[in-house]
Amino acid sequence: MNSPDDGSRHSAGMARVRQFRPADAEAVAAVMVAAFKSFLPARNRQQVLDGFAPERLREGSTYGRRNATTVSYVAVEDGRVVGYISGSVNVHGFGTLSVIGVDPDCFHCGIGTLLMRKMVSFWRRHGMRKVSTCVSAHNSRALIFYLKHGFRPVGYQRDHFLEGVDEVILDRFF
Ligand SMILES: CC(C)(COP(=O)(O)OP(=O)(O)OC[C@H]1O[C@@H](n2cnc3c(N)ncnc32)[C@H](O)[C@@H]1OP(=O)(O)O)[C@@H](O)C(=O)NCCC(=O)NCCS
Repeated sequence: MNSPDDGSRHSAGMARVRQFRPADAEAVAAVMVAAFKSFLPARNRQQVLDGFAPERLREGSTYGRRNATTVSYVAVEDGRVVGYISGSVNVHGFGTLSVIGVDPDCFHCGIGTLLMRKMVSFWRRHGMRKVSTCVSAHNSRALIFYLKHGFRPVGYQRDHFLEGVDEVILDRFF
């Protein structure tokens, strides 16, 4: 972990991860829009950013539901939401990581790692054999992050979510 005088704003030591609640939706939307603006081209990213609208996040919430097959977590630091992750499990032992995003002011502080660890616990608890996600091919920061967390490239999708933006498909086995 970095010390405050070596250029980092803080470390993730102060952050804690808990389940996403509907009341977090506005704060999460702001974090996710900022996170995705950090790598998506301005030209046609609006439809992706619209997916993080607070009402969409609230609709997807499984907070308080027993045996839910999807879960979302937030990282909270000093009472402020600084990161979000969402994923799922299924009866075939195959999970997905739908999305992860960290406030760009907090990149490289370990927040993404805290969120990923929480999601890995969820997948393990449900006995997942493998999990899958994808990452925009030019998003090298996230690609390296996923590689560090045991994901490996298994495929490629051209012009997938957005025209001109290709996706690398990634799997992680347990
Ligand atoms: C990808 C993403 C989630 C990573 O989150 P993050 O909080 O920056 O991740 P971490 O800090 O845990 O790890 C990133 C790096 O910081 C390093 N790090 C962790 N704690 C650190 C600390 N206290 N000080 C310095 N570096 C630290 C990690 O070792 C890692 O370094 P590396 O890339 O050289 O291996 C984040 O960059 C993001 O939100 N990107 C935009 C959205 C996105 O691309 N999402 C994925 C597509 S769905």
